[in-house]
Amino acid sequence: MPEIRRIVLELLAQLGSSREARQYLKEFSEVDEARFAVVKVGGGILESQLEELASALAFLHRLGLRPVVLHGAGPQVDRALEEAGIETHRVDGLRVTDEAVMEVARPVIYRQNMRLVEALEERGIRARGIQHGVFRCDFLDREKFGLVGDITSVDLSGLDSAVSSGALPVVTCLGESASGQVLNINADIAARELVWAIQPHKIIFLTPTGGLLDRDGRVISAISLDNDYEALMKEPWVHSGMRLKLQQINELLSKLDRSASVSITSADQLTRELFTYRGAGTLVRRGEEVRVFEAPDEETLRQVAGRVEQSFGRTLRDDWVVTLNQPLVLLSESMRAAAVVITGADGTPYLDKFIVTPDAQGEGLGAALWQVLRARFPRMYWRARTSNPVAGWYFQQAGTADRRGGWIVFTVGVDDPLERAALVEDALSRDSGWEEEAV
Ligand code: ARG
Repeated sequence: MPEIRRIVLELLAQLGSSREARQYLKEFSEVDEARFAVVKVGGGILESQLEELASALAFLHRLGLRPVVLHGAGPQVDRALEEAGIETHRVDGLRVTDEAVMEVARPVIYRQNMRLVEALEERGIRARGIQHGVFRCDFLDREKFGLVGDITSVDLSGLDSAVSSGALPVVTCLGESASGQVLNINADIAARELVWAIQPHKIIFLTPTGGLLDRDGRVISAISLDNDYEALMKEPWVHSGMRLKLQQINELLSKLDRSASVSITSADQLTRELFTYRGAGTLVRRGEEVRVFEAPDEETLRQVAGRVEQSFGRTLRDDWVVTLNQPLVLLSESMRAAAVVITGADGTPYLDKFIVTPDAQGEGLGAALWQVLRARFPRMYWRARTSNPVAGWYFQQAGTADRRGGWIVFTVGVDDPLERAALVEDALSRDSGWEEEAV
């Protein structure tokens, strides 16, 4: 491992556990180099947190990650216009850009672009300012808005060239018409089109508040649109700005892979957000992701054991995790749903534990986990006590169910009656791992 990467990993380890850092570094390194992340930076951040921003981006660069940075320059343009004695007009939230406005705005936008590029280069990081050639536009409505662009296509060749030469692309929100007229583009719209063109794994919005805030002004840690969107939109405390943000993110994610996520955080929290489970900011995704651990280490197994104990309200024997035969773990991101599958009789997968914590029930998390489980194991068997409240649900999922005393043994994908009988016997003789009933 190159020296620098090792040092960086050590640094990351201080944020959380080094296992978390490694896991995310692996995840982020596995996607196509130019598709790791789009980072949208408001002009205000270039003003107040340039140093933090440059060092967070430089850090990612040293790890071999190449985020694409898109920045606005709203406050700087506002100020320059004011100094030039030009009034700012907005219509439908868009800056009306006549020629006089463009004359003032353009150099200001270039200047902001250069400031970030320079701040990165001062840290020994290669960066490339890309002011043109990305967004091909039509006039949105020349009468109404003047030189404002409506993006018709996005050309990624300049970005790809920067990334493949090892530079961080730093893109402005300017576009051109077919004849080369420079046009102003609203930063949210530019971000959306860029994201759809790149299809990144992560979308990062850097804001001064460092996340979306709840009614008490605290950062909301995670939002799952599938589960939370409708309810949030009905909340009286979700005000128009946040409502719009949520709508935009919902639209953004609807055209991306399910594994994509949006992180809203601040420049100084970016590293923590990216390289720890808990993050620092607001993570928005469509639904919760289910992770598969093929060969879970003891720490992961112990974590799962803790969850199992919590949801059954019983204690597992301390050696439970080490007695499992070739365990495989499925774990939802929030760790509120988990399954442990081991190798059972004749190599048939045995579902040893399946849990959904009470607060996650009704979110569809159990069903999501089950789907991943079934896709992975077309054949398996498991057991449940007749008194288990989930037994009714298992009946619906299972192919067969055999009742024996206080137990029910379920199978799926097992057609041969002899085999089924053997699996039922095996399931009934199994050790559950609970402390008070060692076999
Ligand atoms: N590090 C992970 C990511 O960036 C998880 C972040 C969790 N963040 C949060 N605010 N809950 O994808």
